[in-house]
Amino acid sequence: MKKLMTVTAATILAAFTSVALAASGEELFKQHCSVCHPDGGNIIKPNRTLHKKALAKEGIKDSKGIVKIMRNPEAGMTKFDAKTISDKDAKAIADYILKTFK
Ligand code: HEC
Repeated sequence: MKKLMTVTAATILAAFTSVALAASGEELFKQHCSVCHPDGGNIIKPNRTLHKKALAKEGIKDSKGIVKIMRNPEAGMTKFDAKTISDKDAKAIADYILKTFK
């Protein structure tokens, strides 16, 4: 019985964690990126948006491509190293961008 309860608690905790993770990509995006990319746009270079077509033009088609830009951006964009945004958080932001801005 005790063992069963432990398993149940772990399962509930895991469920909560995955909900928290799902929200964090959006929150992190709002915190770090939306100043320049409101609604997936680009206030500095209007043609370099985060929408699928604009990304495809630059050969960006997955989260790796987005994280690469965060780590090594072109002129005008803030650089985000792994101290500022961890690899895990960077991927969460990238996944949020890919699923949100079509
Ligand atoms: C200070 C403003 C600024 C911030 C903050 C910013 N960006 Fe950018 N971003 C830019 C500019 C400017 C470009 C275009 C770069 C160029 O080509 O010169 C860009 C381009 C991009 C591109 C390529 C888009 C394309 O269509 O080619 C991606 C992806 C991107 N940013 C992701 C992010 C993410 C993710 C964050 C947050 C972690 C972020 N940016 C924060 C200014 C910003």
